[in-house]
Amino acid sequence: MDEDFLNLFISHMNAEFESYYLYLSMAGYFEQNSWTGFAKWMHLQAEEERMHAMKFYQYLLDRGYYPKLLAIKQPKAQWNSILEVFEESLKHEQLISKKINELMAMADNQKDYGSRIFLNWFIEEQIEEEASVGEIVDKIARVKDDTKGLMFLDNELGQRRPVA
Ligand SMILES: [Fe+2]
Repeated sequence: MDEDFLNLFISHMNAEFESYYLYLSMAGYFEQNSWTGFAKWMHLQAEEERMHAMKFYQYLLDRGYYPKLLAIKQPKAQWNSILEVFEESLKHEQLISKKINELMAMADNQKDYGSRIFLNWFIEEQIEEEASVGEIVDKIARVKDDTKGLMFLDNELGQRRPVA
């Protein structure tokens, strides 16, 4: 890995830690407003992001590089609606997908087949992430401010279980 590629990997590991932090902040917002199902979903989402960051951490070590940790930027702490939270989460995932694609393009460019295989998992994961968050955004947009509808969705998202 050349220096630019390594730095891109390190900055992506940081982006995954930032995702963890952002979703943890979103979970706190839901908890504070007693949306326990949305909070649970978001806590699990945050935990997945931490695991993504740790995959990068381990990959760098496996390749013989030090997984240098960077400062994590302070996440946003307040939102105006449930919809706004999930819309932001979708926007964030789209940004992460773009970054993964940039890493993949660099791996291609450098004929780094090991990194291609490693990144492949993330390409698939991002498709899933965007689809699942996009679906939630659509459902929340559909019920708008209807309390019963929101409570139904809160209950539905609260059924989420951690991945094995
Ligand atoms: Fe992620």
